[in-house]
Amino acid sequence: MSVRRIAQEQPETFEFNAENMIWAEELIKKYPVGKERSAVIPLLWRAQEQNEGWTSEPAMRKVADLLGMAYIRVYEVATFYTMFQLSPVGKKAHVQVCGTTPCMLRGSKELIEICKKRIAKTPHTLSEDGDFSWEEVECLGACVNAPMIQIFKDTYEDLDEKALEDLLDAFARGEQPKPGPQIERTLSCPESGLTTLTDVPEYLPLNLTSDSEVAAEKNLNADKTSEDKEVATETAENETSENKAQDSNNSAEDLKSAAAAALTEKSTESSSATDDVSDDHRPEYLDGPRDGQADDLKMIKGVGPKLETTLNALGFYHFDQIANWTRENIAWVDNSLSFKGRIDRENWLEQAKTLASGEETEFSKRANYDDTPKGDK
Ligand code: FES
Repeated sequence: MSVRRIAQEQPETFEFNAENMIWAEELIKKYPVGKERSAVIPLLWRAQEQNEGWTSEPAMRKVADLLGMAYIRVYEVATFYTMFQLSPVGKKAHVQVCGTTPCMLRGSKELIEICKKRIAKTPHTLSEDGDFSWEEVECLGACVNAPMIQIFKDTYEDLDEKALEDLLDAFARGEQPKPGPQIERTLSCPESGLTTLTDVPEYLPLNLTSDSEVAAEKNLNADKTSEDKEVATETAENETSENKAQDSNNSAEDLKSAAAAALTEKSTESSSATDDVSDDHRPEYLDGPRDGQADDLKMIKGVGPKLETTLNALGFYHFDQIANWTRENIAWVDNSLSFKGRIDRENWLEQAKTLASGEETEFSKRANYDDTPKGDK
């Protein structure tokens, strides 16, 4: 690792803005008395986000003061972790190129050459327009999709020179390119589709449409109860929802077809159970979304594309509908969706109330790739 020193030119002071100060005080209260210093990394990170992507020396002192720490202890943390930038970074993108062995063997040196050509000859140097900067970093934990880069909080993987050029062009235009693999694969699934464990479709639910969902379900089959399986499958569905439309992997489709036959009996049982439920407690529903514009129910943690479609089919299109469900309504929906407890477990009503009021939840912020109150990033 290279020596990391703080920038010579520093601002005079740093203060958290009002919103972040409230957040910081609440965060510190979560730690046991005497252990508040454990909040040093999240506080430094929030300071960096507020400070246009870099951690200034006054910001380190501010964090130290808040936590009752010696300044040197906070400097040690900030200068050790490469997630903390010690000098100003590009306004549009600070490109961290992983140069560790797997990425190096797969082409990170070529990526660095592009950074030198397009941004600046040396790392930690702003481009002429101040929009970009770059550095080489150690392994960022996505080796399976090497070579890769990180820009602020997102990783961009399976890169080659053209893909990086395209990404830089997109950031230059002010766009926010989709993170993750930049080739046709889902997360870290094999590029050529499933190569192992292709003979156990009987436990796969009908809604699997991508290799990652298939893989997630197989792992769960080994050690989870059937209810847990539904929850985890839906989680995998959440994580891969953006890829679903384009995912054309034949092996997943084959498994899905086989699973359909195996689960016919289960589906029949499920629909019979639903038929037995009285409609007395059915929540108020709509024949279609108001003004033809449904809310994105996937912003509720625990609702993936499949559940959203089902909820829509039941006449629920808007957050405020869900926010107003009674206990009896919840029981009715629970039964109609053939799972028990998820609405309470994920606290759908509270989430829906927040979203209906126009506010964000922690989950919806992450889903939008923007999870902070924060500074300018
Ligand atoms: S070696 Fe590059 S992400 Fe691990």
